[in-house]
Amino acid sequence: MNSAVIAPPNATIVDLSPDLESLQDAVIDGLSMSPKWLPAWLFYDARGSELFEAICEQPEYYPTRTELAIFHRHGREIAQTLGEGCRLVELGSGADTKAKMLLRILKNPDGYVAIDISGSQLRSSALALAREFPRLPITGIVADYGEDSALPLEESPGDGPLVGFFPGSTIGNMEPRVAEGFLNAWAERLSGGGMLIGVDLLKSPERLNAAYNDAAGITEAFNLNMLRHINRELGTDFDLSRFRHRAFFNADKSRVEMHLVSDGAQIVHVAGQPFRFADGESIHTESSCKYSIDSFQQLARRAGFEPMRVWTDDDSLFSVHYLRAP
Ligand code: AVI
Repeated sequence: MNSAVIAPPNATIVDLSPDLESLQDAVIDGLSMSPKWLPAWLFYDARGSELFEAICEQPEYYPTRTELAIFHRHGREIAQTLGEGCRLVELGSGADTKAKMLLRILKNPDGYVAIDISGSQLRSSALALAREFPRLPITGIVADYGEDSALPLEESPGDGPLVGFFPGSTIGNMEPRVAEGFLNAWAERLSGGGMLIGVDLLKSPERLNAAYNDAAGITEAFNLNMLRHINRELGTDFDLSRFRHRAFFNADKSRVEMHLVSDGAQIVHVAGQPFRFADGESIHTESSCKYSIDSFQQLARRAGFEPMRVWTDDDSLFSVHYLRAP
């Protein structure tokens, strides 16, 4: 699908969302692997985006509020580092809280481009921002920004340097080698500008385990909602009552893993194709890699960026980096 709708005057929405066929291919490919896995972008239908917003407010989930506190505390310095007249390109924009905060402190931004896989959330936040910043050209692109597909960034209005904005430690949801390739592609796209990126830091396993196993069960609902999303889109027959949420810190790989574990032996059908699950067999739905400041800067350098600045909180829970794209 590729259609452009214009509303209000300073906002443009471009829809490059994956079609049903690529969703089906992703599910069949992932369930055919051993161990089984499903890509994390399948979390984000409208309900998944709402559940993620609710996760961000759980007391155990420290990344969102810690990153926001870093932006509040160092906002002026961050704005100075990004410079005047930049065009901000937010990857995985989700709720607009962080963009709104940044746009309020940046000096004369030339434009704002938001890219997100969840069309419903992207539309509403792009339109809300267009109302709050009526003179700022805003482009919302519904797309998987991890794909190599050509994103129409050149068409975004303005001629200031492009600055990527990738908050929330979403980079952690890619394996380090994938993250390096991804950052490398963006270092080229953003050449002459840079990237402001949030990266979650390594900490005690207890704290990490609690963050992905909140007492209110929101992360559990978010994880299971992926199966509901797939059932709705593809007519598959996942029985949600027969999968359990499991999240734990894997110290060897420096990541929190989320899984859906089969409760008993069962068969699930995707496009008529049967997929067998043994009792206790899991689908790996997400990895959330944790870095030290140094290990992340090394990765960014290998990807072709020059780390320029890093801001963190007093407890070193989270970091925000500015990487220059030469
Ligand atoms: C979006 N991403 C950075 C979140 C994370 O922490 O990996 C997604 C999430 N999964 C479970 N809780 C939050």
